[in-house]
Amino acid sequence: MRAALYDRYGPAGEVLRVEEVDRPEPGPGQVRVRIELSGVNPTDWKSRGGATPRPIDGFQVPHHDGAGVIDAVGEGVDKARIGQRVWTWMAAAGNRWGTAAQWSVLPARNAVPLPDGASAELGASLGVPALTAHRCLFADGPVAGKTILVAGGAGAVGHFAIELAKHSGARVVTTVSGQEKAALAAKAGADLVVNYRDPGAAEEVAAFGPVDRVIELAMGANLALDLAVTRPGGEIVDYAAEPSDPVLPVRACMNANIVLRFVLLYGVPADALDRAVTDVAAAVAAGALTELPVHRFPLDEIVAAQDAVQGGAVGKVLVVP
Ligand SMILES: NC(=O)c1ccc[n+]([C@@H]2O[C@H](COP(=O)([O-])OP(=O)(O)OC[C@H]3O[C@@H](n4cnc5c(N)ncnc54)[C@H](OP(=O)(O)O)[C@@H]3O)[C@@H](O)[C@H]2O)c1
Repeated sequence: MRAALYDRYGPAGEVLRVEEVDRPEPGPGQVRVRIELSGVNPTDWKSRGGATPRPIDGFQVPHHDGAGVIDAVGEGVDKARIGQRVWTWMAAAGNRWGTAAQWSVLPARNAVPLPDGASAELGASLGVPALTAHRCLFADGPVAGKTILVAGGAGAVGHFAIELAKHSGARVVTTVSGQEKAALAAKAGADLVVNYRDPGAAEEVAAFGPVDRVIELAMGANLALDLAVTRPGGEIVDYAAEPSDPVLPVRACMNANIVLRFVLLYGVPADALDRAVTDVAAAVAAGALTELPVHRFPLDEIVAAQDAVQGGAVGKVLVVP
């Protein structure tokens, strides 16, 4: 099969290549998925760049997320799953066979049925972003009736945070940096979209608030706004690191009895991940999740695809194997 792969860490143009490799067979508890679309996330270029270097098992096919059809199952997996449309999550975590290839082999649990009504584009966009959004939203309890602030509502995680929060009965305000992103966030269902570059942004959010929970990706840039709009005892949940760490205004956080939480998908407890997968699958089945605009790249353009994500492409970058 044709696969994108790397065997050392470094810039995309230096280490990523497309090669013919033997098609993998599913081992016990695994399924093999014929990949239709592979979804690219920031973690893919960060991992390939060596952000968290680990020994590479010969080579690594990148990308966790994908959509496709199960065409073989390993021992212990129900044969009835052959032919099932699925979306994948964490395919490349501790596993050589990520989704940037014609086939991926991964644990059966990491391939989730994709209903007929849901597009492959949506399926390939779900894994990292929707599961991260779910953990951030629900780690501190239900959101029904609560007011949620989603920072960066046109980003992949922000998009699903808006849609999952609305689907769960929350009021949602979100921040973006311009009109194109404002339109995407409004389409996702945000009740109020605020340009965070606007000098009156905090007042606009506060007028909608008080906010119960903030889903944050730029704590340093946004903490002053978050603290200004969040009710005492509220939570600020951060899922991304900025180039430099923020200075924490301890007194202001303490005065407001704010709870700070940090989420990294790779370390989310298994039971919480299972709940996230179940809830995301139910939201897909209910038609509550939608795809962002997509940018398709053929497998041969894997370098350009990962560089597009690193460059901040608006919408979702997908690779066609
Ligand atoms: N912890 C985890 O497990 C986890 C999981 C998934 C993603 N992540 C990380 O989360 C980040 C976002 O991932 P993604 O896939 O959602 O990326 P994405 O699709 O590129 O979205 C990022 C969004 O954030 C917005 N943004 C940037 N600075 C902002 C600010 N100060 N305030 C509000 N919005 C801001 C960007 O728009 P503007 O620049 O125009 O504002 C963009 O819309 C990445 O760093 C990624 O590595 C972490």
